[in-house]
Amino acid sequence: MGRVDGKKVLITGGAQGLGACFGRMLADEGARVALSDVNFEGAEATADEINKKHPGAALAIKHDVTSKKDWEEALDAAAEHLGGISVLINNAGIGTWGNIETETYENWRRTQEIDVDSIFIGTQLAMPYLKESQPASIINISSVAGMVADGMMLSYNAAKSAVWMMSKSIALHCAKSGYDIRSNSVHPVFTRTPIVDPLIQLGGGGAEGEKKLVRQIPLGRLGEPEDVGYCVLYLASDESRFITAAEFKIDGGITAQ
Ligand SMILES: NC(=O)c1ccc[n+]([C@@H]2O[C@H](COP(=O)([O-])OP(=O)(O)OC[C@H]3O[C@@H](n4cnc5c(N)ncnc54)[C@H](O)[C@@H]3O)[C@@H](O)[C@H]2O)c1
Repeated sequence: MGRVDGKKVLITGGAQGLGACFGRMLADEGARVALSDVNFEGAEATADEINKKHPGAALAIKHDVTSKKDWEEALDAAAEHLGGISVLINNAGIGTWGNIETETYENWRRTQEIDVDSIFIGTQLAMPYLKESQPASIINISSVAGMVADGMMLSYNAAKSAVWMMSKSIALHCAKSGYDIRSNSVHPVFTRTPIVDPLIQLGGGGAEGEKKLVRQIPLGRLGEPEDVGYCVLYLASDESRFITAAEFKIDGGITAQ
């Protein structure tokens, strides 16, 4: 028995990094997964790798999360292949680096579109599918940057904070409507994926750049994708059936300081 046997999961941003790791871990525990990404080749490579281990468990979908039309097609393709959608993981995201004096409006808009607007558009369109496949779970990947600010993360702080509160609002609506659809947010600290490479570069690159990031984390290391994956696995499974409108910090203790 897998922990998520029979779960039908759509993961956005599934080509690499955290999304690809969630796909692998969920498939290892019995789920079928649709990996969507604007980088279709990447999503396909990850799906192929999963299918080698678990034949037929994974599907790759080309999907720009800022496009309503792409969302409609992705949800349709995922539901057709998986036989419905019971778990939606809003994971696709970007970060930009800039303060109130240097950040461009273009970067601000792009961050809000990819990190926040996409969750509004996609989750709204996914609701009929989730209602059909209850018990269901919405997992939104926010960040510790949605809870604590950095002068250079203006757009990202605003976006990830919005994701945190949207998750609760969605959770309350579902609960009050009597739907068995839970909604929670996950808040990783610096985790070893391509998205942290620019931050390591800013700190001087290589081991020195990584050390500067690690110095801030009480547990003394970067997060690994699996550290976040175990939380996502729990939230996708029925083990978390009484958990909704909650936030999960996967942060090595950084936000306690
Ligand atoms: N790695 C970290 O340190 C960290 C920390 C906190 C939060 N997060 C969040 O975790 C999520 C995953 O990040 P990651 O670390 O795996 O980064 P990543 O850059 O490795 O992966 C992000 C994925 O999202 C995809 N993507 C970007 N724009 C898209 C779009 N418009 N439509 C569809 N897909 C798109 C990319 O192609 C990529 O595959 C993001 O929301 C990120 O903000 C990451």
